[in-house]
Amino acid sequence: MRKYRMTCPYRQTTEGSLEKNDGRRQLQRSQLGGRGGFVLQCAHGKRGTDRVEHVNRMYRAGERMVKALDDVSLSIAAGEFVVVVGPSGSGKTTLLNVMAGIDRPNAGQVRMDGVVINALDENQLALWRGAAVGIVFQFFQLLPTLTALENVMLPMELRGSYRGERRERTLANLTQVGLAERVDQLPSELSGGEQQRVAIARALANDPAIVLADEPTGNLDTITGLQIVDLLARLSARGKTVVLVTHDETLATRATRRVHMRDGRSVAQTSPQTCLV
Ligand SMILES: Nc1ncnc2c1ncn2[C@@H]1O[C@H](COP(=O)(O)OP(=O)(O)OP(=O)(O)O)[C@@H](O)[C@H]1O
Ligand SMILES: [Mg+2]
Repeated sequence: MRKYRMTCPYRQTTEGSLEKNDGRRQLQRSQLGGRGGFVLQCAHGKRGTDRVEHVNRMYRAGERMVKALDDVSLSIAAGEFVVVVGPSGSGKTTLLNVMAGIDRPNAGQVRMDGVVINALDENQLALWRGAAVGIVFQFFQLLPTLTALENVMLPMELRGSYRGERRERTLANLTQVGLAERVDQLPSELSGGEQQRVAIARALANDPAIVLADEPTGNLDTITGLQIVDLLARLSARGKTVVLVTHDETLATRATRRVHMRDGRSVAQTSPQTCLV
């Protein structure tokens, strides 16, 4: 048995998952040995702010090295709706992936909602991600043999959260994205826009503070794409931090801020009003 003392916006439940801690209360917990035991390195900064600080990410491409992220720094307040725009290859997906803990920076620090995620090991990262982040992809990535309801419920089952209230919460999430009538449909029986709304409901399954979306409208027609961005804007209005990556600057009008990427660098940050669309 090992004892850890931690002040952290997340704490480990007896089921092994992370859940939000109330503020800065100090927890002294007897942790399980082996699989269950870990320490979270926590930030002392303002809770809810996400910070990417001087992050570099290099990839090897044959003989040469590509700087996918080159000294990128970015600070996002809780509840902001930030759109990341820039040409193909400018580092948008890499930026989102390091914020999601899917990819690790070679240098710099990524601090999400108070947790320095690049200090976590793979198991800790997976726990943190399951609790703190909802991710939406261009190609939806729904499981084809599961209904909309089952797809949205899956993250709760994987994390062991909300036992006894999963179905109720899932129905509420699907209602929130306007799909109350389609919960028993398979993905193949839904339109692209409906599938993406299921994916957004799935991203909300564990009530994350942060929603990260990589080109979620890239596979949709313009009107459906705008509906999806409106849905993300509504999530932000309800207090979620939303980061949306897109090629399409016209979709960025609902954002509170745009971050412009070029050649792995964050070259400008603008409010939508100051941008030419
Ligand atoms: N796994 C990898 N291995 C090697 N190079 C990579 C890898 N992932 C990304 N890159 C390179 O890093 C750079 C940034 O890629 P990234 O996917 O972040 O760009 P992007 O802005 O999302 O582009 P797109 O708009 O086309 O999706 C590119 O030059 C890309 O080729
Ligand atoms: Mg990309």
